Amino acid sequence: MTQPLIDPFARPISYLRVSVTDRCDFRCVYCMAENMTFLPKKELLTLEELDRMCSTFIRLGVQKLRITGGEPLVRKGIMTFFERMGRHLRSGALQELTLTTNGSQLTRFAEDLAACGVRRINVSLDTLDDAKFAAVTRWGKLPQVLAGIEAAQAAGLRVKINAVALKGFNEDELFTLQDWCAARDMDLTFIEVMPMGDLGNEDRLDQYWPLRDLRARLDERFTLVDLAERSGGPARYVRIEQTGQKIGFITPLTHNFCESCNRVRLTCTGELYMCLGQEDMADLRAPLRASPDDAPLEAAIRAAIARKPKGHDFDYSRQRVEGQVSRHMSHTGG
Ligand code: GTP
Ligand code: 5AD
Ligand code: SF4
Repeated sequence: MTQPLIDPFARPISYLRVSVTDRCDFRCVYCMAENMTFLPKKELLTLEELDRMCSTFIRLGVQKLRITGGEPLVRKGIMTFFERMGRHLRSGALQELTLTTNGSQLTRFAEDLAACGVRRINVSLDTLDDAKFAAVTRWGKLPQVLAGIEAAQAAGLRVKINAVALKGFNEDELFTLQDWCAARDMDLTFIEVMPMGDLGNEDRLDQYWPLRDLRARLDERFTLVDLAERSGGPARYVRIEQTGQKIGFITPLTHNFCESCNRVRLTCTGELYMCLGQEDMADLRAPLRASPDDAPLEAAIRAAIARKPKGHDFDYSRQRVEGQVSRHMSHTGG
């Protein structure tokens, strides 16, 4: 029997997030700088190497695989990779294959994703206003994303909307977003903005809208019932009694959820980040390429998990940004 992956704080690691590209067709203000330098293509793991990496993690007990980016659907040939991962769903080794996307390419790929065994996807959408959408994504077009979401639902995929809660930006859309999702039978998760990447004059403290305040506003209008259920990620959910919909809260700032962390992140160049909020990482590309035998790779993965830190150090409570990490969110995929 293979030993499962357990970290130094006795947390089983069963969830791998894989950023398959650092590129994106948007430039969200809290995620990327406007002028990003992307990795040369030759640095990337090939699709075959990504397959070998993920298959190794699955053999070591990973049951949930989330494909992220950048924007995962802009990686050339990515459907081939999804098709290959489908075999792990069919064998039962993998319980869930999913992705987090900006939605821009879903009209093209939704049906193929469903055919590969994807059942549920997370789409990032912070506003339903055309002009605000253009402002926050810099390059994005809202109608294209809305069409993508429609295509995903038509293909039978369950859609969860992820909205970063941004003070002075989408505060006024709390109920519009909630209502819009309820009308389409979509769950909605809010995320507190994290200090990732050096984004020049973007000031996190000005953007930060604590989810406890957001929740209090929902509470004024609706009856919220706390749910014990988890989707395997950090979100805590409530059900709105009046609409039946689920609202998730991802609260790295107001409520640290690291004690139940079950995940690690692989970048498109084969670096393994053991925590979203720390700089430490392990290079898995070298051991992968060193040998066709997976033993050195497995050993490198185990050694990395053995140094998984307790959690992030993001903190705004002293009215300044602490615990910032220098890499952009697009590097590790959220
Ligand atoms: P499900 O629970 O399966 O829906 O997935 P998820 O919430 O883990 O995935 P999703 O990609 O929707 O994650 C949403 C966002 O939550 C990410 O983009 C990050 O911003 C944040 N997040 C996810 N995991 C972590 C984590 O380990 N630490 C921190 N600080 N934030 C995280
Ligand atoms: N803080 C919180 N969430 C972020 N995302 C990107 N950058 C940040 C940040 N600085 C979210 C996106 C998307 C996911 C991939 O990560 O909105 O939902
Ligand atoms: Fe692209 Fe997502 Fe980052 Fe926006 S948040 S720039 S859509 S990777």
